[in-house]
Amino acid sequence: MQYILPIFIIFVLLPIAIAGKSLAPWVPTRKWDIQRLIQILDLKPGEKFFEIGCGDGRVSRWVAKAFPSSEIIWLELAYPVWLMAKISWLFRSSQNCEIKLGNAFKQDFSKFDVIYVYGMPDKMWAKIIPKFMSEARAWAKLYSYVFSIPEEYKNNVVSHGGSHEAKIHILEKK
Ligand SMILES: C[S@@+](CC[C@H](N)C(=O)[O-])C[C@H]1O[C@@H](n2cnc3c(N)ncnc32)[C@H](O)[C@@H]1O
Repeated sequence: MQYILPIFIIFVLLPIAIAGKSLAPWVPTRKWDIQRLIQILDLKPGEKFFEIGCGDGRVSRWVAKAFPSSEIIWLELAYPVWLMAKISWLFRSSQNCEIKLGNAFKQDFSKFDVIYVYGMPDKMWAKIIPKFMSEARAWAKLYSYVFSIPEEYKNNVVSHGGSHEAKIHILEKK
């Protein structure tokens, strides 16, 4: 009995905390904003959508349902959270999904047409956006929820959202 708390801390809380430091703590995209995302998402049949840090998988689940002919790849670093995403997929999701456990910084971004990310601005600016700009294929798009894209790419960015809405910024590789 006395081991339950340390085991919980080491095997559940610690991996979640490590992921929180890596890119962002687990804070989900709001459901209303997922609907807004679906409306502006430019995803064609056969294209690959990649969610960096999928959390409980709510974004990828909705995208998979809305775009059944596209390939939806969910990635999560914290394995307890990944497990939740996997279980949610088993119960509700479509067949066009692959749910991966891994680190975003070790993925090859050139494989994807559309990337969705909700990450802390310092990690986005220092790591994710430079990686996207160097690896992504031409015309690939990165959707950043809430946090903006550096000024130097302003000619490649379109931002959606009114003054009372969370912003969704779209960065296109040209
Ligand atoms: C702000 S949450 C966003 C969750 C989900 N994308 C959503 O919008 O509902 C960030 C997620 O990224 C995960 N994460 C953090 N660092 C990561 C990394 N290096 N690679 C993959 N996932 C990571 C966290 O565990 C967390 O679930």
